[in-house]
Amino acid sequence: MKTVNFASCNIDYVYSLDHIVRPGETEGSEKLELFPGGKGLNQTVALSRAGMEVYPAAIIGEDGLFLKDELLNAGAKLDYLKVTKDKTGHAIIQVDKKGENSIFLFHGTNYAFTKDYIDGVLSHFEKGDILLIQNEINLVPYIIEKAFDKGLFTVLNPSPFDESIKEIDLNKVSCLILNKTEASDLSGGLSPEDFLNEMKVKYPEMIVMLTLGSKGCIYSYKNQRHSHGIFDVTPVDTTAAGDTFTGFFLSGISKGLIPEEAIKIASAASSLAITKMGAAPSIPTWDEVISALDTLKLL
Ligand code: RIB
Repeated sequence: MKTVNFASCNIDYVYSLDHIVRPGETEGSEKLELFPGGKGLNQTVALSRAGMEVYPAAIIGEDGLFLKDELLNAGAKLDYLKVTKDKTGHAIIQVDKKGENSIFLFHGTNYAFTKDYIDGVLSHFEKGDILLIQNEINLVPYIIEKAFDKGLFTVLNPSPFDESIKEIDLNKVSCLILNKTEASDLSGGLSPEDFLNEMKVKYPEMIVMLTLGSKGCIYSYKNQRHSHGIFDVTPVDTTAAGDTFTGFFLSGISKGLIPEEAIKIASAASSLAITKMGAAPSIPTWDEVISALDTLKLL
């Protein structure tokens, strides 16, 4: 079983600040760091560090070659990675003293996906393989259509959420991994509980994995519901927490773990990720997560 991840890749410019800049305000930063990031790249790194065979379908410019090194070092298979002359996507990230962040993006090469490239990549995958996709690239609805036609197990993380998500036929999605804000945006304001009930009726075959920030997460599939709380760690930088959760949860269920175990491991992995600065470099390995479970305590 192989996983193809149509993946955004960003150069993350991370500014440490006292607080997130308010509208009309100017604030100085004494620390700027550059990290490999992008939701897709982070999710590929998480899957790879969790032991999955993952092929990022991604486009970077020559200015972003260190992103390729990060993917390679994580163990991802780079057969379909494309390098062009255009500018790599980047993210301007503010991190405040509590570890909270605020991000804006320049799409760059993340919006250079074409139908020919997508069809070419998907021709190497077949029924039983997995597609993972987030919403930082163009042509997401097309990729989901094509993956569904080929019988792939399709996992959608609708992040960052925008109106284009509503163009996706969710009947073609096998597993939806989202946070409570995205759930509310998608459902027109439903509470987490009502959202899960509605999804069960509308998409009875779909696994829904809902993360609730400090309230943990809920797994929902047919009549099964499992919750998990968050672990007690001191956050330094919350960037990539969701991507780490996505990669480890997907890896857990692909390895055949019961959902309770998969969500425990995903929660532990994202707790570890927020104790380090940066996106991809903060993502732990599977073994690190398993050993940390001996000492991590629920909040
Ligand atoms: O999910 C975290 C990621 O969002 C960052 O790495 C940044 O690149 C933005 O895309």
